[in-house]
Amino acid sequence: MTPSITSYVQRLAVDGRDLYAKVSVCGVSLVSLLRGACGDLATVRARQAAYLVSPGSLMAREAVQLRTMAGPAGLGTVVLAGYARGVLFTEPVTGPTLTDLIEAEPGRTRELLGLVVRDVAEGLAREGVADAVDSAPIRERGITGTFARKFNGLSGGLYLRQTGYGEVLETVAARLRRTRRIPPTAAGTVVFGDLKPEHAAFPVDGGRPVYLDPGLMRGNTVVDTAKLVSRMVLGLVGCRPAAAGVVLGGIDSFVRASARRLPAQERAAWMRELVLLVLMDTLNILTTYLTVPTDLPLSAHAAAVRDRARHVTDLLDHATAPLVATEDAATWWRLYLTRVREAVAAP
Ligand SMILES: Nc1ncnc2c1ncn2[C@@H]1O[C@H](COP(=O)(O)OP(=O)(O)O)[C@@H](O)[C@H]1O
Ligand SMILES: [Mg+2]
Repeated sequence: MTPSITSYVQRLAVDGRDLYAKVSVCGVSLVSLLRGACGDLATVRARQAAYLVSPGSLMAREAVQLRTMAGPAGLGTVVLAGYARGVLFTEPVTGPTLTDLIEAEPGRTRELLGLVVRDVAEGLAREGVADAVDSAPIRERGITGTFARKFNGLSGGLYLRQTGYGEVLETVAARLRRTRRIPPTAAGTVVFGDLKPEHAAFPVDGGRPVYLDPGLMRGNTVVDTAKLVSRMVLGLVGCRPAAAGVVLGGIDSFVRASARRLPAQERAAWMRELVLLVLMDTLNILTTYLTVPTDLPLSAHAAAVRDRARHVTDLLDHATAPLVATEDAATWWRLYLTRVREAVAAP
């Protein structure tokens, strides 16, 4: 089994073919499932039997999305080997991921981030993509939707207390909720939705990336940059590579260049949205890692972040304080980066 907190993923042989098989149990994450969100085992079994054959199941939509990416979007994507009864089969992608490439050549951080973000945005803007996505969107992986699901309800506080950092993380969630504004709707834009650095692989040296695990939906393209930034930063805080400073410099330079490319009147709103989404995604994933039942295997990335949860919590606390104190998003970004450097350096 490949460690995942969301779906059940396993590499196996099918008629002698080496494939990845992926299944979603009841459409919820494995963490929620093991925490009892869908009832006891007998209930889960019964619900899953129906879910596997339902046309709108997550894997059925993922199959449609992989076809959309390879078709109208013209993007490099994992080869869909088949979809049957709720199971998605893909051919293994070889080659380094974006994480591997940046680790090997930290000085290329800005260039590589730019390449991936531009490639995805150009592909998803092509004709026919939006219509295909509207027929099978995957909203489950969106940052704001996940944040609302986890922290807006009455159960949010109870959940946060189970992380062991309840008090401070409740303050963080409250600051984010208070600062949040409804982003301008960009109805025509399709976003990748789950653009983590491990979801882009480079099978051919110097060639185009190949993507896996899409969560295509309508949204503001800033969400793709936000997820890349938050997950890369978490990797740095968790693993503390020697070149962390160089990578952070590359991320900073990439973000500033992205803002500069926008019309002047849009820059502040973009930066504001970026920082808020980065912080929300960090809270979303940190709390998941902290509440994973012990019988679920964690990836090295997830285990490293959980081991340094104290520092990620401090980062969130210190980086959300300015949201209340100032409206200036460029300051939010600068202070976030300062706090990230502290979290990486913390022993
Ligand atoms: N076709 C594939 N080729 C290579 N690795 C894969 C493939 N499918 C899945 N994986 C690996 O399994 C991990 C989890 O699969 P993914 O599709 O991202 O599921 P999840 O929704 O659970 O994150 C990926 O990050 C990747 O490391
Ligand atoms: Mg994934």
